[in-house]
Amino acid sequence: MMNVKALVLAAGKGTRMKSKKPKVLFDVAGKPMIDYVMETACAVCSDGAVVVLGEAAGDIQSHLQGYNSEFVFQKEQKGTADAVLAARGSLEDYNGKVLILCGDMPLVSRESLKAFIENSVSPVNFMSVKKKNPEGYGRVVRGADGSVIRIVEEKDANSNEKKLKEINTGIYLAESKELFKRLGNINNNNAQGEYYLTDIVKDGAGIFVAETEEEFLGINDRAALAEASKRIWRNRADEYMKNGVSITDPDSFYCDDSVEIENDATIYPNVTLKGETKIGEGSVVYPGCRIADSVVEDFCEIKDNCVVTESFVGRESSVGPMAHLRPGSKLYGKNKIGNFVEVKKTEIHENSKASHLTYLGDAYIGKDVNIGCGTITCNYDGISKHKTIINDGVFVGSDVQFVAPVEIGKDALIAAGSTVTKDVPDESLAISRSEQVNKEGWVRKRKQIYSREK
Ligand code: UD1
Ligand code: CA
Repeated sequence: MMNVKALVLAAGKGTRMKSKKPKVLFDVAGKPMIDYVMETACAVCSDGAVVVLGEAAGDIQSHLQGYNSEFVFQKEQKGTADAVLAARGSLEDYNGKVLILCGDMPLVSRESLKAFIENSVSPVNFMSVKKKNPEGYGRVVRGADGSVIRIVEEKDANSNEKKLKEINTGIYLAESKELFKRLGNINNNNAQGEYYLTDIVKDGAGIFVAETEEEFLGINDRAALAEASKRIWRNRADEYMKNGVSITDPDSFYCDDSVEIENDATIYPNVTLKGETKIGEGSVVYPGCRIADSVVEDFCEIKDNCVVTESFVGRESSVGPMAHLRPGSKLYGKNKIGNFVEVKKTEIHENSKASHLTYLGDAYIGKDVNIGCGTITCNYDGISKHKTIINDGVFVGSDVQFVAPVEIGKDALIAAGSTVTKDVPDESLAISRSEQVNKEGWVRKRKQIYSREK
């Protein structure tokens, strides 16, 4: 393998994003776009990368710890040629070749870069591609014999040049000495008053035409950002479908690449799967759910519009619709968490159910427990959180409040409407509600009084 070092340009202001946030830290299908570029750069280059940073350099630099990279700074953003010059000190004496990449092109594949590197033999080379819609990119101007004359930016192009479909991908491979020699001769006499890196090809350059245009998408604005994410999500959906996952609408499948989905799972539309999430074999995730950093084991159902974060859903459980599993929820298996149930930092052992309108926070729930509709753990006294322990086999009637800390013994029964403030022994009935009084004929008498008064 030839010695190659990447030079990643990431100092641009990203003006067209209209944001305070640096462009290269914008999220593309679940991670910042610069990560895609760095991963690819480090995979194809033997000697790591030099990254050119400008505004918000600190944020980007700390984000990029862990890559085989060093950083240089471009004080003023005077154009892509000036950005490369900022790396002169780091690269001028480098003996291998420099692969220049843009930090705003996250979709470029390793295969294309490898093919480009292998086929580039001139001192300066660049990669082009034909685009159906070349708008916004620099165009490749060729002579009658097909040789490259120059690259013209959209803003400098005349109407004939604008019709050219072959664009500059912004990817170059050059010998270091030759690169800096040519950069010394570049001026900023152009529409944008910038120093254009594209001008290095005027003195002759090798050109490599990439086969497919999709991966050469420069992210300059939010429309391109959305397009890049969409493309990645769609590819991921196709990949999962090949592996035996059903995705009912692959165009509305929003899934990070860290997610694992086992075969025979079904994912309905508008589902977002994030972070370290795993969906087990045969499980079904219904429309509108967001699941992050969670495990859903085999043969579970996550019904419509649930939010599940940092939680564990044991096999054959059913959650939702409209349930919220907050961090630290652990369902051991065969559980039912029904509609409008919120669970936080609570373990619920096998076969226990909370089917309707309930809040369970900081609780331990044993096996075979039934939590009635409208049950609430009063876990917070305004200063600290307290624990509710409900042991195996307990039956909780509807509309019960547990004022924590409190422990309910095995197989106890809590009567509907009770406010439980004291521990309950095993196999006991706890009832705490005022006794019912029936006043016979009261309504009839009231009606009589009203009709006399009229
Ligand atoms: C650039 C190319 C264009 C090509 C396109 C491919 C030039 C003049 N134009 O245009 O031919 O078709 O990429 O996407 O090179 N940057 C700096 N410092 C600067 C300016 C830019 O580091 O002073 C960085 C940006 O962060 C970005 C990259 O260089 O990652 C490209 O800059 P951008 O302004 O996006 O150039 P384009 O107009 O897209
Ligand atoms: Ca760009």
